[in-house]
Amino acid sequence: MALLNILRYPDARLHKTAAPVTVFDESLKKLVRDLADTMYAAPGIGLAASQVDMHKQIIVIDVSERHDSLVVLVNPEIVDASGVSDIEEGCLSVPGVYDIVERAERVKVRAYDQNGKPFTLEAQGLLAVCIQHEMDHLTGKVFVEYLSQLKQQRVRAKLAKQLRKSA
Ligand code: NI
Repeated sequence: MALLNILRYPDARLHKTAAPVTVFDESLKKLVRDLADTMYAAPGIGLAASQVDMHKQIIVIDVSERHDSLVVLVNPEIVDASGVSDIEEGCLSVPGVYDIVERAERVKVRAYDQNGKPFTLEAQGLLAVCIQHEMDHLTGKVFVEYLSQLKQQRVRAKLAKQLRKSA
């Protein structure tokens, strides 16, 4: 088991755009395993490869209470979205910060699994929000960037304080 280092906001590497996966090989499977291990250990309910400085379109999510329902999305694409959800979000790259972002309540996602097999997933509620949050990471967007400028300043100040404490 390998735990990967999670980039902390406002690290500029979180703003890179992830490239689609074109080769479904053993190294992809290992990365998916490491991402899942890192997410569960954190603990968190979602992690995008971008957050560990691997800029490929790979996401792992598990919103189950028992942590036994891992969802792996490679090259995900939202093909349908409806409704409005306003669930409070957090992010392993922005520890200790939670806020509400307006998202679609339901999404239909087309993606590949780690073996390269295409599938479609229909999600709602927390899973749908999590998918949208993680897909944002793949385009270099962190959820706090939806917040007002004032709130973003507070987030940066809070994270800077955390860093000073841990230094
Ligand atoms: Ni996040």
